[in-house]
Amino acid sequence: MLYSEKVMDHFMHPRNVGVIENADGVGEVGNVKCGDIMKIYLKIENDVITDVKFNTFGCGSAIASSSMATEMIKGKPIAEALTLTNKAVVEALEGLPAHKLHCSVLAEEAVKAAVKDYYDRNGIDYDKSLFPDAPCCTHCG
Ligand code: FES
Repeated sequence: MLYSEKVMDHFMHPRNVGVIENADGVGEVGNVKCGDIMKIYLKIENDVITDVKFNTFGCGSAIASSSMATEMIKGKPIAEALTLTNKAVVEALEGLPAHKLHCSVLAEEAVKAAVKDYYDRNGIDYDKSLFPDAPCCTHCG
């Protein structure tokens, strides 16, 4: 079986799909090679992610990765969400095929982009090294 049960479950029944109106931070990233796009919306109160939703126009692994990533950061302090790595997402999904690892990278990048957006909107100072320029974005192609 190419995909784990966890991947199939999150692909077939993705959690936290949708849009948050008046989100406090929105992150959109894309991969120019495959053309997939992921958007993550955050609601933030007192430095805690109280709600998160995503829209992913992409492959099944990207959908499963974003679903898992949203579950992993919901209710967590921002600082903790920023430590989320694509590797952790892959582990939580019980693995992804090698050629699908980039799909989980999108999830990590989308979370970071949404937090960065929140910081930028509120004029909050942050360590720039936490947000390396995404290698692929929707406007770099
Ligand atoms: Fe590109 Fe999955 S194939 S995100």
